[in-house]
Amino acid sequence: MIAPSILTADFARLADEVAAVDNADWLHVDVMDNHFVPNLTLGPVVVDSLLQVANIPMDCHLMITDPGRWAPGYAEAGAHNVTFHVEAADDPSAVARDIRAAGGKAGLAIKPGTSLDPYLALLPDFDTLLIMSVEPGFGGQKFIPEVLSKVRAVRKLVDAGELNILVEIDGGINADTIEAAAEAGVDCFVAGSAVYSAADPADAVVKLRAQAATASAHLTL
Ligand code: DX5
Ligand code: ZN
Repeated sequence: MIAPSILTADFARLADEVAAVDNADWLHVDVMDNHFVPNLTLGPVVVDSLLQVANIPMDCHLMITDPGRWAPGYAEAGAHNVTFHVEAADDPSAVARDIRAAGGKAGLAIKPGTSLDPYLALLPDFDTLLIMSVEPGFGGQKFIPEVLSKVRAVRKLVDAGELNILVEIDGGINADTIEAAAEAGVDCFVAGSAVYSAADPADAVVKLRAQAATASAHLTL
C-alpha cells in the first residue's frame, strides 16, 4: 500500500492535491502541534474539510502531546486510521481502545531512536505500527536504514502468526529506499516528497507501488 503524505503538497490547493493521488491506498495526513515536534501543520478543522473531499481512507499521523485527549476525535470525524506516538502517551492501550470505540483503526508510531522491545506487548491492541524512518517533524529528510531492524522484528512475529498488525514506514521513502523497506517486510509506505515533488503524483504512486511489489515478491511466495 502507498500512502502519500500531503505535508509536501501545496496547502493553498489541498483539495486538488488530494484528488491528484486518489489512486493511492491511504491519504496520510500529518498533524503536528509544535510541542511534540518543532513544527505546526493542521488540526481537526482542516481534517474535517479533507474528509469531505478525500475518496480514499485517511491515515492520520498525530505528532502531538496528550494524544488521549485528541486522537478519538479524529476517528469520530471519520479518519480510517488514527496513529499517535508511543513517546507521547502515558497509557497507549487506553488511547487505542478509545480510537476503536470511536470507529477508527488504532495506530502506534515510534521514533527512529526509540527501541521497540519495551512496547512489543502493546502491539496486540493496535491495527498498525508506524515505524518512523526520519525524525518526525519535517518532510524531505534522509531515510534512516537502521530502523529496518524494527520492521524485520515485527514482520517475523506477524509471519509466525503471533501478531496481527500492519507495518507502516514513514520518512525518506522514494525510488532509492522503498525496495529495502519492502524487503524488510513493510506493508504500507508513506511517501511525501517522492509523490508531491513528482511531475505526476499519481504516476509516482503507481511506480512506487510496483517497485515495492517487485522487491517483496519473494516474501509472499
Ligand atoms: C514527517 C512526516 C512524514 C513526512 C514524510 O514527520 O511524518 O509523513 O511527510 O515526508 P517524506 O516522504 O518527504 O520524508
Ligand atoms: Zn507522517
